[in-house]
Amino acid sequence: MTSWVEKYRPKDLDDVAGNPTAVAELRKWAAAWQRGRPEKHAVILQGPPGIGKTSAALALAHEMSWSVVEMNASDSRNADAIRKTATRGAVLQTFSESGEFLRTNQGGRKLIILDEADNVFGREDRGGIGAIVETIQASGQPIILIANDYYGLTRRSSSLKRLCKTIKFQAIHDDAMKNILRTIASKEGVDVAPDVLEVIVERAAGDLRSAINDLESLAIGKKAVRSAATGALGYRDREHSIFPAIEEILRSGDARRARDAARGLDESPEDLLLWVDQNLGHEYSRPDDLVRGHEALSRADIFLGRARRRQNYGLWSYASELMSSGVAVARKGRGRGGQLEFPYYLIQMARSRGQRATRTSLAKKFAAYLHVSQTLVLDELLPTIRILFTGDEELRIHMTARLGLDEREAALLLDEPESSHAVKHLLEKAGKIKGSPPAESTGGRLSAFDEEENGP
Ligand SMILES: Nc1ncnc2c1ncn2[C@@H]1O[C@H](COP(=O)(O)OP(=O)(O)O)[C@@H](O)[C@H]1O
Ligand SMILES: [Mg+2]
Repeated sequence: MTSWVEKYRPKDLDDVAGNPTAVAELRKWAAAWQRGRPEKHAVILQGPPGIGKTSAALALAHEMSWSVVEMNASDSRNADAIRKTATRGAVLQTFSESGEFLRTNQGGRKLIILDEADNVFGREDRGGIGAIVETIQASGQPIILIANDYYGLTRRSSSLKRLCKTIKFQAIHDDAMKNILRTIASKEGVDVAPDVLEVIVERAAGDLRSAINDLESLAIGKKAVRSAATGALGYRDREHSIFPAIEEILRSGDARRARDAARGLDESPEDLLLWVDQNLGHEYSRPDDLVRGHEALSRADIFLGRARRRQNYGLWSYASELMSSGVAVARKGRGRGGQLEFPYYLIQMARSRGQRATRTSLAKKFAAYLHVSQTLVLDELLPTIRILFTGDEELRIHMTARLGLDEREAALLLDEPESSHAVKHLLEKAGKIKGSPPAESTGGRLSAFDEEENGP
């Protein structure tokens, strides 16, 4: 399931919308590399998010037939890699695809892309900038740094500014955005009302990635999107208030700050849990931190469940405490400091309220059956369950019978309309075997299902 943003990422420089000057400058710099080693070994692509910087860098490599070493600067492992390159002397050596060093004569031209370069110099990584400067000075390979925050990147190192050619990317014009959105909609076979496009583009304020995400969240699985639908976009506004709170929880390391941040939020604890969960895995780098963090989250999840079942909302505060200060103090090692993410699950929920209820009821059934949390089912297991479900008829029929799946749930797993023949057929077959013992093992897949023969 690739997102539309990835699916429609421009592959060639000519497909990168807007910013013709920036693209021309990139080409010129690359051409100089074909002739030798230009004075500026590196360029900084600078500009707001979602306007094609990363895409342009990748497309340039494609056009030049250069291989690419992509490093995300916010990942601390890459900071180490950068340092190593610098100290080992990158003039003669270059990376292989797997990050090993190759002599240039074995390797050919490789474009080193350091994405989110403004992040590498986060609070905990003072050494990173020096490593990059050394790398650039020594490098025999073209380097592209990408940064949203040019000032944040260059103010700590005047040499960085001096060593790099700066290429500015500008926000995409509304009309260009609309054209791209229209093209995507038509390729996806969705008819999108003009005023819906209007709203999307206005909200995106030049950020094409967010416009495409909005379009996808409104249009996925539909034939047409009418104007009323844009109400669902409200969820994206929440990022602005939630991200700072998530930062406090995952990065402050301070129980009280984390708790205060959670209390100050106008979010249900259920939703906050999803946000923390979505970002914990990227942010905490040490395995023991992850274990402790997830433990706090799953205990929070248990309290939420109890609060709901017993209508005892006093329990909410325990849950909030666990998912904020509990998670904050779980981290002993350093964080990664990367970009925070919107929970994918919430995007899917926003796609359709009906689907939301169905996903929850499905998650409940599988969670009880597999003895795991609903959150785990929703965030991790559903895709696998889906693959098993669609791939094996026998298994599908027994799952449906055993868990008592209804039309909606089966339809969601099959990705078919409720009224479809496939769904009807499945429920009929499941109805027939209900009560009778399951057939022979289905080849050992999803063994938990086989073990549960005498279960609830
Ligand atoms: N100029 C553009 N032309 C075409 N698609 C774009 C452009 N800018 C952004 N996109 C869309 O948004 C996504 C994110 O773009 P990306 O290049 O990663 O942005 P940035 O690096 O500037 O944040 C792309 O995969 C593509 O779908
Ligand atoms: Mg990018």
